[in-house]
Amino acid sequence: MSRIEAGPTGQLRIAPSMLSADFGDLANSVMVVDQETDWLHVDIMDGHFVPNLTIGPGVVAALRPHSDKFFDCHLMMTEPGKYLESFAKSGADGCTVHVEVGHTAELIAQMRELGLRVGLAANPDTPFSAVEPFLDSIDLLLLMTVFPGFGGQSFIAEVMDKVRQAHRVINERGLAVDIEVDGGIDTTTAPIAVDAGANVLVAGSAIFARPEPLVAAHDLREAASLSRA
Ligand code: DX5
Ligand code: ZN
Repeated sequence: MSRIEAGPTGQLRIAPSMLSADFGDLANSVMVVDQETDWLHVDIMDGHFVPNLTIGPGVVAALRPHSDKFFDCHLMMTEPGKYLESFAKSGADGCTVHVEVGHTAELIAQMRELGLRVGLAANPDTPFSAVEPFLDSIDLLLLMTVFPGFGGQSFIAEVMDKVRQAHRVINERGLAVDIEVDGGIDTTTAPIAVDAGANVLVAGSAIFARPEPLVAAHDLREAASLSRA
């Protein structure tokens, strides 16, 4: 299956999280923000790594014909390796696995083999040292700004130290790795994350729980762009 390009690394990206979209009308509700967003962040939860369940490859495949966005699939799963091939076949463009589940080198190799863009995620209390050895072999580092599992939680500002550290090391080594933040991102916290060095901003409730999601997405980009100016 051909993949959608992610675009240049390091560029500001707004990635709405479909977790807060209307699951009864998913295709339409994610399409509404198309004009003001860059990627689609797809949250996959297995009820084990996190205490919540969402969707699987079937829903990714069902959404695929409705969107030409880069599908940024965040796998909050204990055993992502069992499902990577299914997600790749269903139309995922990039997959992100959590470092906490282990087998990281193998999972990275598996994602590369499948032609997926490779992401690695770390929970708020996971130190930078856990992901640092893998920076040379990934395309995206997701630094969670909430504990994963649910939308609508508050941004954990302490994670910005890790974002700054990651940004510094990635630059020092001249690596092409996006830094993504996910959880509690809104017009107030987006500039803080961007100032710290993040360039991919995931937002669920700040977009889809607003009366006008398209306007909310626009406002988020404006807030983040001002900070980068
Ligand atoms: C949380 C998910 C997030 C979530 C973010 O476990 O990974 O992508 O949808 O939701 P907000 O933006 O509402 O914090
Ligand atoms: Zn997510």
